[in-house]
Amino acid sequence: MEKGLFITFEGADGCGKTTQLNLLADFLKKSRDVIITREPGAKGLGEKLREILLNYDGEIAPKCESFLFLADRAQHIEQIVKPAINSGKIVLCDRHTDSTAAYQGYGRGLDLKEIHYLNNLATGGLKPDLTIVFDIDIDTSMTRVGVQKDRMESAGIEFFNRVRNGYLEIAKLEPNRVKVIDASKSIDEVFNNLLDIIKPFLLH
Ligand code: TYD
Repeated sequence: MEKGLFITFEGADGCGKTTQLNLLADFLKKSRDVIITREPGAKGLGEKLREILLNYDGEIAPKCESFLFLADRAQHIEQIVKPAINSGKIVLCDRHTDSTAAYQGYGRGLDLKEIHYLNNLATGGLKPDLTIVFDIDIDTSMTRVGVQKDRMESAGIEFFNRVRNGYLEIAKLEPNRVKVIDASKSIDEVFNNLLDIIKPFLLH
């Protein structure tokens, strides 16, 4: 059996990561068993949590918001990610632990050490083999998101600048796991950069 691989896709809203994830899945499926999944809300209970997180129109305290994302993560890891990796699949996951660090930590201002601890609790210590951060300036990403914004996307420019800088900081702190791609380029250029990064990991 081939070794499972866990790759996460990160970046501010509207950075284009989901398009790239789908392109990569099509490419990898020619030779490997691949699953596409996401946080929050891959399936079942997670979808209910996603609905609250993105559409609830009352106030959600930052700590409560974090726990809801973490609850989704704990379920997602057990139900989908671990079994897939253990059966030798490549798991491509749209957002994971670094979203909580970037959005609830750098963005909302919660303590990063606590978030790190809680992330670890939710995942049982399972870490992505590779994380790609799609970096883009906030004006461009908000234009891509458009006028129909969900609860998170409505958090404002300053919030998103903190999120963006948070991701860049995370990449500096963990350069072996986290790679940054300039997502302002064309879809083809971004995808070629992505392939350059992914290929060495496929040989392991
Ligand atoms: P989604 O529609 O999946 O956004 P995108 O297509 O940009 O990935 O919405 C997920 C939102 O939830 C997004 O704004 C990021 C946010 N989020 C957090 O704030 N913390 C987290 O831990 C996760 C997983 C997502």
